[in-house]
Amino acid sequence: MQLDDLYRRVIMDHYKNPRNRGTIDEGSVTVNLNNPTCGDRISLQLQVEDGKVSDARFTGEGCSISMSSASMMTEAVKGRTLDDAYAMAEKFSALMKGEPVEFDELEDIEALSGVNKFPARIKCATLAWNALRKGVESQGQGKPEGH
Ligand code: FES
Ligand code: FES
Repeated sequence: MQLDDLYRRVIMDHYKNPRNRGTIDEGSVTVNLNNPTCGDRISLQLQVEDGKVSDARFTGEGCSISMSSASMMTEAVKGRTLDDAYAMAEKFSALMKGEPVEFDELEDIEALSGVNKFPARIKCATLAWNALRKGVESQGQGKPEGH
């Protein structure tokens, strides 16, 4: 697969220097999810306070796309309300469908649009965001859409 330079640079940066890799000790929402097509997995923890994601961390093993996407996602949702976090997951789905969405200051995420021509890779990129959805839904927020 052909990757443009921006895409490659951003993914490798997050893969080699993951943001928010680790665990939260107490009182957090934990979601474990795997990608059934390859067995790669993520464990996402969200610390939720007053309806906001005050902290987000992840562990897991997976390809560079899945792990870099998890790094970007945790960066993106920290400090957001659960509803906003869910809205970002929806936006990410739209990006994967090739829709022209913008993530404003979070332009690293937009670089992941490079995967949308590769269905197997979309699953890699989406793993962490699906974990986010589940985490938000477990708090009674978000609006499940049958993904
Ligand atoms: Fe096969 Fe990611 S699931 S490349
Ligand atoms: Fe498994 Fe990418 S190859 S998540």
